[in-house]
Amino acid sequence: MTSNHHQSVMFNESIEGLAIKKNGIYIDATFGRGGHTQGILNQLGNDGKVIAFDQDLAAIEYAQQNFNDKRLTVIHSPFANMHNLLTEQGLLGKIDGILMDLGVSSPQLDNADRGFSFNADGLLDMRMNQTTGISAAQWLATANETEIANVIYEFGEERRSRQIATAIKRFQIEKPIETTLQLANIVASVVKTKKHKHPATRTFQAIRIFINQELKQLSDTLNQTLKILAVKGRLSVISFHSIEDRIVKKFIQKHSKQKQLPKGLPIMNNETKQMPLKDLGKSFASKVEINDSRRSRSAILRIAERIA
Ligand SMILES: C[S@@+](CC[C@H](N)C(=O)[O-])C[C@H]1O[C@@H](n2cnc3c(N)ncnc32)[C@H](O)[C@@H]1O
Repeated sequence: MTSNHHQSVMFNESIEGLAIKKNGIYIDATFGRGGHTQGILNQLGNDGKVIAFDQDLAAIEYAQQNFNDKRLTVIHSPFANMHNLLTEQGLLGKIDGILMDLGVSSPQLDNADRGFSFNADGLLDMRMNQTTGISAAQWLATANETEIANVIYEFGEERRSRQIATAIKRFQIEKPIETTLQLANIVASVVKTKKHKHPATRTFQAIRIFINQELKQLSDTLNQTLKILAVKGRLSVISFHSIEDRIVKKFIQKHSKQKQLPKGLPIMNNETKQMPLKDLGKSFASKVEINDSRRSRSAILRIAERIA
């Protein structure tokens, strides 16, 4: 059975963070099932625009079937192509806000055949963009033990990464790993966690991040936003784990904090370099939302404004 429902996380807060102008041009970098996109459209006037990206064809098909709004353009592409696509359209420096709601959508997780879930059996794919790249199963078949251990450690912060990689390679002596439950069971044979957390949570997260190059996509795109946003344009980013949030936090800090001159250095002139961003802070989902949706428990929203 395929599911198409996705409950948008930190909906009001992330859209308020964009400080929407009625006739502005906004980017939803992660269309999903369009909850945030619709929220932006609702606040726009007739001349406003939303350009939405998603690298998953299922999201694009959903948009085509369920959204009929002249103000919306939906693009099937990784969001890191944003700079190139907007350059072609003459829109660099003209975007009033960019929203990024990172990670996977509920339909991706809930549809077992996408291979993201350790709870339901399906082919071990994990690609958000199934039109390109290799599946998690193909990667596990070709990567060596050290490469697998490194990915699980770096992108999952899993302490037992080496033991997991060894167990994976031992299993593959007999047969290839083809399904999500095969991988989940191999991990569970070497990782013990508290009751509420599945032992394969970190490993699945790590392999998914690696297969989709999620962290590179994120940092490349954040760097692009400095040229894409108009002055006073807003960046509103929701992340779901500490590795992702650290990248967003460091990016905003790097471009918003004035460097302190070492004490005692003579001030040569009165000019200090104007930083391009203003950090407007971070927030978490409300208690009410957390009670309603488990996914929102780990959400961190950061907002910044381009000021120069
Ligand atoms: C958390 S969901 C977004 C949900 C959406 N905000 C909503 O309200 O329905 C994340 C979506 O972003 C997409 N995505 C993740 N990384 C992407 C990337 N690098 N480029 C384009 N789309 C990406 C995924 O395919 C997924 O559909």
